[in-house]
Amino acid sequence: MLDEMSRPLIRGRPEGGASRRLEASMSDPGTPLVGILGTGDFSRSLARRLVASGYQVVVGSRTPKRSVALFPEEAEVTSQMEAASQADLVFVAVFPEHHSTLVELKPALAGKTLVDVSNGLRINLDGPSNAERLADLFPESFVVKGFNTISAWSLQMGPRDGSRQIYLCSDSSKAKSSVMQLCRRLGFIPVDMGLLSSSLDLENLPLYLFPSWRLPILCTLCLFIFFYLYNFLRDVLQPFVTTGKSAFYKMPIETVNVTLPSVALVMISLVYLPGLCAAFLQLRWGTKYNRFPNWLGPVAQQEEAVWAVQLPVCGSTRHLQSVPSHEEVCPLQTAQHGF
Ligand SMILES: NC(=O)c1ccc[n+]([C@@H]2O[C@H](COP(=O)([O-])OP(=O)(O)OC[C@H]3O[C@@H](n4cnc5c(N)ncnc54)[C@H](OP(=O)(O)O)[C@@H]3O)[C@@H](O)[C@H]2O)c1
Repeated sequence: MLDEMSRPLIRGRPEGGASRRLEASMSDPGTPLVGILGTGDFSRSLARRLVASGYQVVVGSRTPKRSVALFPEEAEVTSQMEAASQADLVFVAVFPEHHSTLVELKPALAGKTLVDVSNGLRINLDGPSNAERLADLFPESFVVKGFNTISAWSLQMGPRDGSRQIYLCSDSSKAKSSVMQLCRRLGFIPVDMGLLSSSLDLENLPLYLFPSWRLPILCTLCLFIFFYLYNFLRDVLQPFVTTGKSAFYKMPIETVNVTLPSVALVMISLVYLPGLCAAFLQLRWGTKYNRFPNWLGPVAQQEEAVWAVQLPVCGSTRHLQSVPSHEEVCPLQTAQHGF
């Protein structure tokens, strides 16, 4: 009991935590040792996931003493050079602008697998990709592009939510298959995307998600303005001009309330339009083996984004319908003054 009481409530790190060498790595040489360069959000989530999946982890930092408290006890936090020397497979969890600061690790990383997890800030169509630049910086290492489409959050939570696939590409099939194996052990599904030249597509992938929503959002906005103006003219301005009855109180809620369902209905009908066009064309041609016109593909591809954009519209419609109208709140005032 005395022993229990003397134990601190919060587990501290042993003395000299930063340079502490993994005891497990000594005792269990069969457990793979994975290195991570950088101690940011991504590195911390990855380290937790790797430790939870039975890997030994060595993290390389410019300031290991300051970063050690951020990592699980099972992970060793040390200098970049020591981490690069110890591990055979090293994740580069450093922003691409800072890749060049790692060049002094070149001899330590020679012949090893480097996993580039970096993303770009804007779509890069011309190349070279971050991974290709990293491969140029470290010609004696085997660069694998991957893990960039998965967030630090999903990584830490594990493959419980929808993000299970990890896209990988590399010029070295051996390096790629070792990273694929690691993905499986972490509980993710590796997807082989081929050679390192595909890394540009992988880096652009996270940036393409929302641009496909642009057109549906624009259409929704235009339709909203159109229907709102129509309802304003019909329910507010026209009664005011013809009978002098003020109905301007309807503008913030009631007019919006009748506008949103119209917008949602038109947009949802638009979702079915490409399918109807395709069915009409097939009936007209009398065959399903003709190629559809080129314009039909991009229109049909917007379907998912249209649904996604309409969800909040439909949701707010339901919410607004439950807001009591002015007549319900002030029946007497409405009866007496007509507003
Ligand atoms: N966060 C995410 O959800 C996520 C998802 C996918 C991909 N990524 C990619 O993962 C990489 C790291 O992202 P992050 O969110 O972990 O970034 P972060 O929190 O800013 O961490 C970056 C780390 O890089 C290290 N670093 C090494 N050399 C550096 C230098 N010269 N200047 C500044 N920092 C340097 C720093 O660690 P030390 O100070 O200890 O050396 C720093 O903690 C990025 O390439 C990002 O695109 C991130």
